[in-house]
Amino acid sequence: MSLTITKVAHFGAEVSGIDIATELDDDSFAAIRAAFVEHGLVLFRDQALSEEQHIAFARRWGAININRFFAAHPRHAEIALVVKEPWQQDNIGGGWHTDHSYDAEPALGSILVARELPPSGGNTLFASMYAAYDALPAQLRRAIEGLRGVHSARHIFGSKPVEEIEASDTRSGRVGNAAAADVLEDVVHPLVITHPLSGKRAIYVNPAFTIGIAGWEAEPARQLLGEIYEHCLNPRFTHEFVWRSGSIAFWDNRATWHSARNDYHGHRRALHRITVEGQALH
Ligand code: SIN
Repeated sequence: MSLTITKVAHFGAEVSGIDIATELDDDSFAAIRAAFVEHGLVLFRDQALSEEQHIAFARRWGAININRFFAAHPRHAEIALVVKEPWQQDNIGGGWHTDHSYDAEPALGSILVARELPPSGGNTLFASMYAAYDALPAQLRRAIEGLRGVHSARHIFGSKPVEEIEASDTRSGRVGNAAAADVLEDVVHPLVITHPLSGKRAIYVNPAFTIGIAGWEAEPARQLLGEIYEHCLNPRFTHEFVWRSGSIAFWDNRATWHSARNDYHGHRRALHRITVEGQALH
């Protein structure tokens, strides 16, 4: 079998005909990289990656970010655990977001490997911020040009009032280090970036981590961001990935959003995520 890249509906590409644990020569890597740059989402099936091979694959793309907030794999700090136990209600990543937009140099991408899946459900939805930008109505495109979004993770990973912690089991040992989140400085990025690898334009705000627009009052910023989000969630820009044993999803955090469905209560879902460092965005 030779390496094949197949576009999926409505965006993303499935890479087949390669065992990325053992066959990733320079030509294959270059082909996967080209697909990643073009589509922003590459999907693999039927892989059997050990934790060490997952780390080795991630290192081909850049330095690994050691996650400050997620529980880490007990033997590999590079691997963040994305787990929901049968008795837990909240999942991790259950709202639309892109990883690490709250960093001054946001992550290049995240490589998520299925380890244990529920009998059904737990799909991941992806949205293309390239497609969303390309389809922006002219008036909205003009309105957001030159603006900068303010991003933070304090409200997500920082200390919570006691009543909020009691009403939710989100933390349950899965998310921690609230003290580090409490002292995070807000960062700003353009609302529309020129992607550092593809050179294409992409919308770069997201419902989880964008808390405002630089220089704007809260209410008009909330309204404009709401308008952008509604546009971005048009099903024409989204792809729903159905996980199977051996599946891997690798998304570009600068060109996509994602959201994990939380529709499998009473079952365990466990995935391993490695996030690759990125760069400042312009
Ligand atoms: C994440 O948000 O990184 C996790 C996505 C998922 O669990 O499908």
